[in-house]
Amino acid sequence: MEEKIEKAFEKARSFTPDNAGELEQFRIEYLGKKGVITELFHDFKNLPPTQKKQTGKLLNELKNYVQQKITATGKVLSDKEEYSSDIDLTLPANQFQLGSRHPISIVRKEIIEIFSKIGFTISEGPEIEDDWHVFSALNFPPEHPARDMQDTFFISKDPDILLRTHTSSVQVRVMEKTSPPIRTISPGRVFRNEAISARSHCIFHQIEGLYVDKDVSFADLKQTLEYFAKELFGEETKIRLRPSFFPFTEPSGEMDVSCRCKGQGCKLCKNTGWLEVLGCGMVDPNVLRACKINPEVYTGFAFGLGIERIALLKYDIKDIRMYFENDVRFLNQFSGTV
Ligand code: DAH
Repeated sequence: MEEKIEKAFEKARSFTPDNAGELEQFRIEYLGKKGVITELFHDFKNLPPTQKKQTGKLLNELKNYVQQKITATGKVLSDKEEYSSDIDLTLPANQFQLGSRHPISIVRKEIIEIFSKIGFTISEGPEIEDDWHVFSALNFPPEHPARDMQDTFFISKDPDILLRTHTSSVQVRVMEKTSPPIRTISPGRVFRNEAISARSHCIFHQIEGLYVDKDVSFADLKQTLEYFAKELFGEETKIRLRPSFFPFTEPSGEMDVSCRCKGQGCKLCKNTGWLEVLGCGMVDPNVLRACKINPEVYTGFAFGLGIERIALLKYDIKDIRMYFENDVRFLNQFSGTV
């Protein structure tokens, strides 16, 4: 029997497979159910006990040798296959396409950073709102014509649940749950029942600002807005405030910034030298009262701006619809801006 084992050893040693198939054949030949080693173990059982020790040792050596040979040769073969396959590792890799931030995100981030520097926090509110937070608490009486300017999409009537028309609703939410001093900005998406055109859309974005404390004056409002305009449009930017009307502020104003054409006249400012940027004013005492803040003790200012409009002025975008069309030729122009 020892001779048989030696022969099998000899054969196993001289075996050099060329591929995985041959190696598998080898495995079956030695370790398979009817393989050489399996049969040798079978014969081994019938040996007289005096021979078992010596032969058993030899048989185990053969088995270990074959097992190790299969593992080691298998690895060599699979490495060989990997490197000799059709993949050309010297070719350049697929390019990873880097996207760009959306202009609305760029401008929103920039505005948030400007106000964060002077201590404004960020607050948010729901896009689906009730009448109280969008209109009533903001001093829009039920039949007031100011409501017509902000027609929107109603989800239900009685109680009135609707898509918010402005982020001013977040003012109310913040004042209801925090007591002054309050210094916050509220970025968010708003909705209006508007015909879609180059200048207006039924979905757009706003940022609301609110500052409530003791002794807050119109001078504070003007100073804050001037700082904002210079940070956003450049140090040489000038601002002007024109009287206006909003139900929730008294007095109310609209802020213009000087145009890049410096009054030379251009299409963007329609030769006026000024660009309208935002609405603002001193928080109406009725609004403070609706939010349970005493107007005899506290005063405040508020402002609201449209992000689409600011981005339009900053990047000279001709048509507001481009923001929502997902045209990569438009979006790619903002790559690299963080
Ligand atoms: N909510 C106004 C709008 O959507 C913008 C606005 C104007 C907000 C004056 C204010 C403000 O806070 O004081 O047209």
